[in-house]
Amino acid sequence: MKAPEELRSHRWFGGGELRDFSHRARSRQLGYNPEEHLGKPVIGILNTWSDINPCHMHLRERAEQVKRGVWQAGGFPLEFPVATLSETYQKPTPMLYRNLLAMETEEILRSYPIDGAVLMGGCDKTTPALLMGAASAGLPAIFVPAGPMLRGHWRDEVLGSGTDMWKYWDDKRAGLIGDAELSELERGLARSPGHCMTMGTASTMTSAAEVLGVTLPGAASIPAVDSAHHRMAAASGARIVDMVWEDLTITQILDERAYSDAITTVLALGGSTNAVIHLIAMAGRSGIDVSLADFDAIARRVPVLANIRPGGAWLMEDFYYAGGLPGLLSRLTDLLHPERVTVTGRTLGEDLAAARVHDDDVIRTRDNPVAAEGGVAVLHGNLAPSGAVVKHIAAEPHLLTHTGPAVVFENYADLKKRVENPAITADSVLVLRGSGPLGGPGMPEYGMLPIPAHLLEQGVRDMVRISDARMSGTSYGACVLHVAPESHVGGPLALVRDGDLITLDVPSRVLRLEVSDAELARRRAEWTEPAPRFERGYGALYSDHITQADEGCDFDFLARAGHNPEPDAR
Ligand code: FES
Repeated sequence: MKAPEELRSHRWFGGGELRDFSHRARSRQLGYNPEEHLGKPVIGILNTWSDINPCHMHLRERAEQVKRGVWQAGGFPLEFPVATLSETYQKPTPMLYRNLLAMETEEILRSYPIDGAVLMGGCDKTTPALLMGAASAGLPAIFVPAGPMLRGHWRDEVLGSGTDMWKYWDDKRAGLIGDAELSELERGLARSPGHCMTMGTASTMTSAAEVLGVTLPGAASIPAVDSAHHRMAAASGARIVDMVWEDLTITQILDERAYSDAITTVLALGGSTNAVIHLIAMAGRSGIDVSLADFDAIARRVPVLANIRPGGAWLMEDFYYAGGLPGLLSRLTDLLHPERVTVTGRTLGEDLAAARVHDDDVIRTRDNPVAAEGGVAVLHGNLAPSGAVVKHIAAEPHLLTHTGPAVVFENYADLKKRVENPAITADSVLVLRGSGPLGGPGMPEYGMLPIPAHLLEQGVRDMVRISDARMSGTSYGACVLHVAPESHVGGPLALVRDGDLITLDVPSRVLRLEVSDAELARRRAEWTEPAPRFERGYGALYSDHITQADEGCDFDFLARAGHNPEPDAR
């Protein structure tokens, strides 16, 4: 156990020098007497709430419950507003800003008198960003997931945010529904605070955070508006105070076994392909090398047990009632590392001791899985020398082995302009380039390329689509994503031409451009590098330092090993 004078914050407040005097005087200016905070763990609550983020609209209030827990446990809470990354509104994509929030998180924790951190997020990129920054800072930290929103509703149907947006938009384009139905759908798709309630990127990453061991057990599955979410927030606030005294840091929790368990769990959830990029980047901050090969190897031995959209039938609210993530993990313990420690100070196995499954259709048994193999396959070939991914459980099976002629789009604007081309058939392979980490920029979620309306009207609902973009975790289809290296830096995707045959062979994990090496060399000699996307500012910093998708899209100077000195508080 730490003594009060060993607290990090003691360096700001506890001495007899000029700066200590100044810091204490300013605490009084904040309205606190010394006995309210001196010798107590100072808990930084990093909150991604903002008026523009509907997924986090409850976090302003929820931070008060975290503070309640901190006070009750004898700590001193201080809330810090940090960048809000709203998946819906931030353009071109919040992925451009994930590393900015990670940097902000790390530097706030480093530069202020903080002994422990509560990280509040959930909307897609906020979870990896907060955890990447906290991992680099290395203090005790606990994550409070925003929680999924309630089920959506329209007439007699249950709606999944995101997933059903794409589905009904295609129905509109196919002429199956009109403006009146769309207007009703607008009211029912997202009807409560909380992040998307399908197994999209948000639910995938908050679940990954839980199995990594940085949330309280069961936290990630609790709906945002359930009273259990209030209690979890308060309990997290109380627990971080004890973690500070115990000196239980995030560095001790995030080891190689934790990341292996996170990959296993993401695959058993049928989770978002975005998790591949985020977990590689997060592990890098913990000094652990996770590669695409790890995902493919683990996927081959992990069945999909969570029957949740877009790969399954149910939603996160149903998952919670069925036993939530602890229930699912209780069916995977032989594939996990139950001996490792979590924020509770107990082992993962001890945390799961009381876990139960209450609905075998929502959380399947091992002998009746949603899919026998994990939800993500990693592809290689002359079109993706550094790899690509496909969420094959959310694709029509007949497309998983397919050869067809390419129809190439230079970028998203070109796609929107030309996709309604009557020459495109169901066998065509739609190729989008210019959408990677540098070209997008930020790898926007363009990867579920729209199917031309004339094919939708014929009943076609899936086609092979290939891009260096990402895809929303709520999307679906035979979409090959994250092709690396991206076209913007001269990856082979830049060399594809209309009519080239492309082979997708998921069982063999192959993505091949059926063009000779000699012809590809000739095309490469003609290729010219595109102009940089940014001339100044954060965009230029991003462009100079972003890594490719297979490396996690972190900044090279953040991902590298090294130690920064603690600031001199005096
Ligand atoms: Fe925030 Fe989907 S828009 S999680």
